Amino acid sequence: MLNETAIKELQEIRSKYPSARSALLPAIYVAQREFGWLSEEAYEAVSEVLGVPKAIARGVGAFYAMYKHRPMGRNIIQLCTNVSCMILGAERLADYLKSHYGLVPGGTTEDGRFSLVIMECIGACGTAPAMLVNDEFYENLSEQYIEEILAKFT
Ligand code: FES
Repeated sequence: MLNETAIKELQEIRSKYPSARSALLPAIYVAQREFGWLSEEAYEAVSEVLGVPKAIARGVGAFYAMYKHRPMGRNIIQLCTNVSCMILGAERLADYLKSHYGLVPGGTTEDGRFSLVIMECIGACGTAPAMLVNDEFYENLSEQYIEEILAKFT
């Protein structure tokens, strides 16, 4: 169930769009933030507040890779392994995440601190290898730099 603040936020989002369906992407984002992932309950909340069928909301959300459709760790590491990053060591970095943090692609650490998602190009080819942690970009990665970065996240 959404709290009053989140419901008001969804209503405010709705008021900025000509139709409820066009407000779905930001509304789903709010639900994800509030529930931690897009459970059936999260989609029901969006459906109720916007007055859009839940199946429509779920259908829109399911199309986009940035939405989480299963429980994930508190921090999401998105490591690019596409061509530029691969050439500059991304697979070695993925091995490092596995050996030092127990992270495998699609997996979550036992303490729920991190989840790892392997990405296609994230637009930082000139400073590869690159990753995102939550919404922050990190480039020119090395094992030592990853260790420094991840130490900041609890
Ligand atoms: S290939 Fe990794 S950022 Fe483009």
